[in-house]
Amino acid sequence: MCGIIGFTGRAAALPVLLSGLRRMEYRGYDSAGVAVVSAGGIQCRRAVGKVSALDAALAADPVDASATCGIGHTRWATHGAPAVRNAHPHLSPDGRVAVVHNGIIDNYAALREGIKSRGGVFRSETDSEALAHLIREKLDDAGSLIEATCRALQNVEGTYGIAVVCTDAPDEIVVARKGSPVVIGTADGASFVASDAAALAGRTQSVTFLDDGDAALLKPGSFEIRSISAGAAVVRPATPLDFAPGAVEKGGFEHFMLKEIFEQPEALENCLRGRLLSEDGTAKLSGLHLDAREIASLSGIVVTACGTSYYAGLHGAYAFEQFAGIPARIEQAAEFRYRNPIVAPDTALVSLSQSGETADTLAAVREAKRKGALVLSICNVVGSTIAREAGRGIYLHAGPEIGVASTKAFLCQVAALGMMALLFGRTRRLSCEDGRAIVSALEALPDLVRAVLSQNDKIAAIAEKYAGARDAFFIGRGYQYPAALEGALKLKEISYLHAEGYHAAELKHGPIALLDENVPVVALVPQGPGHDKTLGNIQECRARNAPVVAIATEGDSAVEAFTADVVRVPPCPEFTAAVPVVVAEQLFAYHVARLRGEPIDQPRNLAKSVTVE
Ligand code: G6P
Repeated sequence: MCGIIGFTGRAAALPVLLSGLRRMEYRGYDSAGVAVVSAGGIQCRRAVGKVSALDAALAADPVDASATCGIGHTRWATHGAPAVRNAHPHLSPDGRVAVVHNGIIDNYAALREGIKSRGGVFRSETDSEALAHLIREKLDDAGSLIEATCRALQNVEGTYGIAVVCTDAPDEIVVARKGSPVVIGTADGASFVASDAAALAGRTQSVTFLDDGDAALLKPGSFEIRSISAGAAVVRPATPLDFAPGAVEKGGFEHFMLKEIFEQPEALENCLRGRLLSEDGTAKLSGLHLDAREIASLSGIVVTACGTSYYAGLHGAYAFEQFAGIPARIEQAAEFRYRNPIVAPDTALVSLSQSGETADTLAAVREAKRKGALVLSICNVVGSTIAREAGRGIYLHAGPEIGVASTKAFLCQVAALGMMALLFGRTRRLSCEDGRAIVSALEALPDLVRAVLSQNDKIAAIAEKYAGARDAFFIGRGYQYPAALEGALKLKEISYLHAEGYHAAELKHGPIALLDENVPVVALVPQGPGHDKTLGNIQECRARNAPVVAIATEGDSAVEAFTADVVRVPPCPEFTAAVPVVVAEQLFAYHVARLRGEPIDQPRNLAKSVTVE
């Protein structure tokens, strides 16, 4: 999705803007642009494609390299095709104001008509260009850029995170937020703005997140926040920016995705650290702010999320029922927000989101709050909107996830939900002994992952056999069913193979008609209650000549009757087996995509953080 960067200070702005745009490349975008302000006015360059195309545009037609203030943007098209004219920044017709915008202006058609009737001429099909016109229109009467921006925004309906520069005050940036993240920070006489804290890693020690309805004026080394509507000064807390140096770099791996797959043991350790109480066989999750009485009175749990987070949520819903005996269901966030669901009293809504910014998940959180649910969040990005609006919740501590296809966030979500289910279970019906067994199973997760990572070469060799396929199925039962869905999603996302995850028993109700010698089936068959039945389903696939890749427990020779392509996972309880299985699937998808030469970290049409409906 779109990314915003801005800098004002004493040093040259352009290198800061370009490196910030690169840091946000993982979010997915189709065009990029920058505008710098200096005594000569605003100079803007834009290009379709990657930041490297913008580099080329700047080399062909340079801007003032000594300019110390500017804004930049990566755009993911919503209104208007990916084209230079639609890329941001957008300028007012006289070139006095430049704007970058994330979000969607709902009343843009009416705003455009109004601006046109006052003589304005549009040069793009975007909703965002209207903002440059509106701010310019207000500038003379308002007397300052921040006042003009706030007045213009009073007429705007929809969502925005914006950064604005103006020739009247060449060292100022004005930013504002409603529904789209804006984060600001200062260091050594410089000020920064970004839509994503990762873009500021290494530049500032701490960041301040704007709330909806906030605007801010950035000058070199300082900023002031105010309310857009009331104009009154507002104070927002600073949050330490705790990205380790190199956390947003590839660290010797060919792709961020591979780096992040290999980071998973450490990510899980960070997620579990200090939260498991071995002696009492339970978990301590202070961020939930729930007392035992509230947990005991829960009558139901609705888990909601999108994409990979949804599949982790399905795994978690099973765990809530198994450990805590609380009826639990998973619902797609987009469906939850619009179908007017029944939320019974004493229901907890558990929202899951790596980014904490996914529009549908955020809307589901708001809908659940309206309906009186107890809203909890599990997010990775600290200070993200969902985390803040839910109020109660836990962070994954997985570290920044840069690859568009989610990996370490999924594993940590499964672990976090497992801890939550354990806590709820111990408060209700689980014995201490059973609780201790679950604690041990959770503590073993990092080693389960390491055991699969050590088979990377073997998985690459298996992937080589199937990289030419056009279709694939993933099958599993019980906790392996969400794992099958996630395995198929990974393959689709990065290799563009058509892949479907199916419950192993459901295969015969339709998809089996598609099987032949060209359609591999990845069968998830670790030891557990579904093991023997899934072996039967493998047999059904082999009878249709479909080649099978099995993910099975070490020492289980039963699968060898059907295939030589076996990835092994260590023996573990049914509840944790999906974790090593999904790691095997991630590596399989990674190697298939690599062998097919696909752009793994930035797959076509996909975005890391989906902030539109
Ligand atoms: C996008 C990403 C997925 C992610 C989903 C939900 O589709 O490409 O990897 O699972 O959004 O994102 P969230 O940040 O809410 O977990």
